[in-house]
Amino acid sequence: MRIFLDTADLAAVRELARWGCFSGVTTNPLLLARAAVRAAEIVPALAEAIGGELFVQAGDAEEGTRLAQLAPGRVVIKVPVVPSGLEAIRQLAAERIPTAATAVFKAAQALLAARAGALYAIPFWHRIAEAGGDPEREVRDAAGFFERMTPTGQRARVLVASLRTPEQAVAALRAGAYAITVKPELARALLADPGTSAAVEEFARARGEE
Ligand code: E4P
Repeated sequence: MRIFLDTADLAAVRELARWGCFSGVTTNPLLLARAAVRAAEIVPALAEAIGGELFVQAGDAEEGTRLAQLAPGRVVIKVPVVPSGLEAIRQLAAERIPTAATAVFKAAQALLAARAGALYAIPFWHRIAEAGGDPEREVRDAAGFFERMTPTGQRARVLVASLRTPEQAVAALRAGAYAITVKPELARALLADPGTSAAVEEFARARGEE
């Protein structure tokens, strides 16, 4: 089980990397635009700030090949799960560049992406629910398909994104997700609990720290 940070905010990544529990960072064009950064600047900076995988979105295989060179061995290229995206996944897989099929709304899309050679499928939990779908079922089905593919040598993984609450994050993992990606504020919400805060205050009082 792995947890990624879903952000292009370098300061937040630096701060949260100190917790030691995140496996890398996922970005997308919206997050880059919001942070007013370009992939060419942020990927090397993220590579210094945190260990693990760095997910960056590409428009096609050529761009994916270029982006993968920004942090060799660390970059996973995201492409939307559309016909041209599957084509890019197939080309990048042939170059041994890991890919993630993003904007997954159905388990069937995850299966197609894995067959094309994607290492990850990224279902958008909250957006699936908003569109009237059942994210829990899609994630459970996709994880089940991938498990059945393992003996054939395929090792695709479900990484759930578009999570808004700690409950959704836990539900995604319970449904069989290999990994989740969370915004910095959700990472903080996953750690926080009023019971923990009350206990910490109690301990502080007992130590005379008032
Ligand atoms: C992450 O990789 C996704 O692109 C992101 O979480 C999309 O979700 P949101 O925009 O609904 O939060």
